[in-house]
Amino acid sequence: MELTGKKIVLGLTGGVACYKAAELCRALTKAGATVQVVMTDAATHFITAVTMQALSGQRVYSSQWDPRVDNNMAHIDVTRDADAMLIAPCSADFMAKLAHGVCDDLLSTMCLARPHAMPLLVAPAMNVEMWQNPATQRNAQQLRDDGITLFGPAAGEQACGEVGLGRMLEPQQLLEELIASFQPKVLAGKRILITAGPTFEAIDPVRGITNLSSGKMGYAVARAAREAGAEVILVSGPTALATPHGVQRINVQSAQQMHDAVMESVGGQHVFIAVAAVADWRVANASDQKMKKAADGSVPELKFLENPDILAKVAARTSVAGYPYCVGFAAESENLLAFGAAKREKKGIPLLVGNIGHHTFGQDDNTIILFDENGHTILPRADKLTLARQLISEISKRIAAHSLFQ
Ligand code: C5P
Repeated sequence: MELTGKKIVLGLTGGVACYKAAELCRALTKAGATVQVVMTDAATHFITAVTMQALSGQRVYSSQWDPRVDNNMAHIDVTRDADAMLIAPCSADFMAKLAHGVCDDLLSTMCLARPHAMPLLVAPAMNVEMWQNPATQRNAQQLRDDGITLFGPAAGEQACGEVGLGRMLEPQQLLEELIASFQPKVLAGKRILITAGPTFEAIDPVRGITNLSSGKMGYAVARAAREAGAEVILVSGPTALATPHGVQRINVQSAQQMHDAVMESVGGQHVFIAVAAVADWRVANASDQKMKKAADGSVPELKFLENPDILAKVAARTSVAGYPYCVGFAAESENLLAFGAAKREKKGIPLLVGNIGHHTFGQDDNTIILFDENGHTILPRADKLTLARQLISEISKRIAAHSLFQ
């Protein structure tokens, strides 16, 4: 219920992507928002007001001139207690209107009459040539200059059969973008590298050794960092999780691959957060072919080699270059307070996040302890995204005091 207490004005303009606006409306209400739908006349040719009314649970506004509507000041009133306006889909024509302050229908008038500080967010949706047309590009730039936020568009196959930029973002991505727009931009301009998930150490081409990490905490940290305005690279072991919107993901399997991907990306990063549950050892005598059962019942003997400690290696770089600011995670099954403080020292990092108990693997909730040079702070039980946001806030405070990160 990320949007509980928020009122969102959802504007629909003419385009095939109106069918996605129905799902978006549902996603917004499921997230706890009160959704006031406003449709242009063109939008009503693509999806009916009845559908949007059923999904939002509110009367839909579509005309400035409907005498049956008791609120003839809707163009002013509706936005006065709203937290944001989201135009999805936003047509090329409507972008042009916004860019020039044209207000010849209810929705465009509402946009112009909205309170100055209220965020206006638009999700363009149009044919690739319309999007790339210099007029639209000029308008897009004008919107950005006016403080209007553009979400997308994405590239891909279009309703018209052409391929390219102009697709509206998916409802789930728009929901994530909207939620992110309410988060403070405490990491704006910062580059953050994050590892997440388990690693998989092959025994042969079809078998391997892994662990119970789901990747949920690392993915939540990546999402929270992106919400805070950072550019995020996520080096991920095998997980079934969806990539947080706007995050660049690099998939790896083994600890060695994770190490190589991190070392390749770490230059120029402001912060490195190692959330992954990296295998301490890999199989030294892994077989190139699938191993067979022996006729005499003898079992294979695996030999192990120690994997590189990615976090310790990045931390060692930091002691020379001064950055990235390194954050480690530790899951202990006992005596976390003593082990956590000792592990922070051993790894040579300024901040270590301890999980209370190893039972956090795969769960949606967690309790964490932050260990730094001043001792420890407990962040009480909450869902992983909430904790990730608190962690990002703590990191931003720590690096703000550091001239290297300015
Ligand atoms: O040493 P331990 O595995 O308990 O430390 C956990 C922290 O170190 C985590 O942040 C984990 O991502 C990181 N780590 C690493 N490379 C390893 C082992 C752990 O980056 N080979």
